[in-house]
Amino acid sequence: MTAASLAGLRILVSAGPTYEDIDPARFLGNRSSGKMGFAIAAEAAQRGADVVLVAGPVHLPSPAQVRRVNVRSAAQMLVAVMKGLPCDVYIGAAAVADFTPRSCSPGKIKKQPGQDTLVLELVQTRDILAEVAAHAQRPRLVVGFAAETDNVAGYARGKLQRKRLDLICANQVGVAGTGFESDDNALLVIDADDERALGPAPKRALAGQLLDLIAERLA
Ligand code: CTP
Repeated sequence: MTAASLAGLRILVSAGPTYEDIDPARFLGNRSSGKMGFAIAAEAAQRGADVVLVAGPVHLPSPAQVRRVNVRSAAQMLVAVMKGLPCDVYIGAAAVADFTPRSCSPGKIKKQPGQDTLVLELVQTRDILAEVAAHAQRPRLVVGFAAETDNVAGYARGKLQRKRLDLICANQVGVAGTGFESDDNALLVIDADDERALGPAPKRALAGQLLDLIAERLA
C-alpha cells in the first residue's frame, strides 16, 4: 500500500512535555520525550501536509519542512495552539501538565531551619485538546493521546467522549520498549465505534500508520 498523500492539508501537532515553573531554579515536568509528536510532524510534512509543530522543551531537531513553535508551559502551549487554528487536523501528542503552581516564586524557595515539608498549591491547567474540539473553528479531525497505566481502553474511551474527540491514541505506560523515552511504541487507536491496535513499531512507522487512518477518515 502506498502512503496516503496529505497534500493540501494543514496539520497542527503538539509534542513533548510542558514545564511548570515553581521558582527560577525549579519546575514540574514529565517524562515525555516528544519523539512521537515529532515523528508525526515529520511524516505528515513528508507526505505533503502544511505542518505546524508546537513543541514543549525537548532536545530534538526540527523535522524538515515543518514550522516549529517552541513553548515551555501549558499556558504558552495553549496560546500557540490557538494561534495555529484554523487547521484541518489537530493532533495533541503533547503531555501537557494537568496542574501548575498557583504562582511562580520570584526568588528561589529556601528551606527554613527545621522545615521537613513543603506544600505547593497547584491549580488545574486549561485543557487544550478539549478547547480545540469545542472551538468555533474546530478542525475536521481532533486527535488526542492518552497515556495510561491500567484500564487503557476504558480510560481512553472516556477521554474520547468527554473531550469530544474523533480519535484517541492510547498507550500503556510502563511497558518496556514502548512509551516515553523509547524509539518504539504501540498504540490502540479508538474512535466512536472501533478500536485498532498499531505496532509495536518504530515511532516513525507508527506515525505513518496513524496518518493513513487519518487520511481514510478525511477521504
Ligand atoms: N491535554 C491537553 N491539555 C491539558 C491536558 C491534556 O491538551 N491541559 C491533552 C494531551 O495533549 C493528550 C490528552 O489531553 O492528547 C490526554 O491528556 P490526559 O492528561 O491524559 O487526560 P486527562 O483528561 O487529564 O485525564 P487524567 O489526567 O485523569 O489521565
